Amino acid sequence: MKRKVLVVLLLVASMGAAKAQCEKFCNKTLKNAEKQLSLQLKDAYENDRIPRTVNEENEIHWAKQRFDWTEGFFPGTCWYMYEFTGDAKWKKAGEYFENMFYEHRKLTTNHDLGFVFNCSYGNGYRLTDNEKMKEVMIEAAKSLSTRFNPNVGCIKSWDVTGGWQAKRGWKYPVIIDNMMNLELLFEVSKLTGDDKYKNIAITHANTTMKNHYRPDNSSFHVIDYDPETGKVRNRHTAQGYAHESRWARGQAWGLYGYTVCYRYTKDPKYLEMAKKIADFIMTSKEMPADRVPYWDYDVPEKAKAPRDASAAAITASALIELGDYAGKKYLDEGVKIVESLASKNYMAKIGTNHNFVLMHSVGSIPHGAEIDKPLNYADYYFVEALLRLRTK
Ligand code: GLY
Repeated sequence: MKRKVLVVLLLVASMGAAKAQCEKFCNKTLKNAEKQLSLQLKDAYENDRIPRTVNEENEIHWAKQRFDWTEGFFPGTCWYMYEFTGDAKWKKAGEYFENMFYEHRKLTTNHDLGFVFNCSYGNGYRLTDNEKMKEVMIEAAKSLSTRFNPNVGCIKSWDVTGGWQAKRGWKYPVIIDNMMNLELLFEVSKLTGDDKYKNIAITHANTTMKNHYRPDNSSFHVIDYDPETGKVRNRHTAQGYAHESRWARGQAWGLYGYTVCYRYTKDPKYLEMAKKIADFIMTSKEMPADRVPYWDYDVPEKAKAPRDASAAAITASALIELGDYAGKKYLDEGVKIVESLASKNYMAKIGTNHNFVLMHSVGSIPHGAEIDKPLNYADYYFVEALLRLRTK
């Protein structure tokens, strides 16, 4: 009996030590990230713009002012820094930079309102209870909901009346990334008590589960629907290597999206889906030893192929949450990815990399854009993963 008690005590003590070590690692990494982001904040104020990436001329590239799907991430990262430090400078920055796109809450021409407004105003509201921010979230959710078509059972991702999307022959494209817009809808139903937003999110998630996924639990990037009948017209890609290939960030968006669906609904089918996607990612023989995927799992000539740190950061953050619902193996994998990203192979030295935290992400190779560059959303999900991990 005494022996048993001793074993339990030793186990508890070693778990406590591991927890303390993990917290120390997260705090140290977040402190370094804060130093880097403070330099980036100075650039952002000086130029009065939101940093997005670095261009081919090796200059900082700012988010478009008209509308940019990445505009919410920098203020969102500022809010995370406020959560970490409690320093009012980060609160002021979150407010200042999200206010730059306040007008966009009424846009109905794009699905990215969920990304944009939940990462920025959503975090701001969570940390400050500022009612004005809640109102902005509600308005953005209303605008996003106008893109839902009950014949299809999905929110339309892109309009096809102009730009490169008009050249693809699509009628109603829905991309796997769109799973990330659902969090805003779930949250706004919670805030308002109006289930209509949540119901749209659930229908979208169910339709996506049916049509986007392959038997190996990887996803296509773009499903093009007939808006009258809801039938699938095409299974395509926009940012992956090929229609049939497995675009790395798309796998990460799906994992994160179904984990969020489970958080809000507790419906076991979303948990199963998230686990299946996680298992696909974790056991893929295409995954390099350092767990930062090539930009597409199926790209040939892997030795020359860029990695995508953004996909790794999104995956890590999702796995750390999934660990709470589905067991330690997911948390452990999330930890390994975060450790890899925090190494000198991916985390930039302070004052380099145009003051972005992570190096080596990919925006879109088929569009020739942001290849092996820093990205503001890689930083956002990396910081989020560290904050989530710190309390585990
Ligand atoms: N939602 C666009 C992307 O992941 O690149």
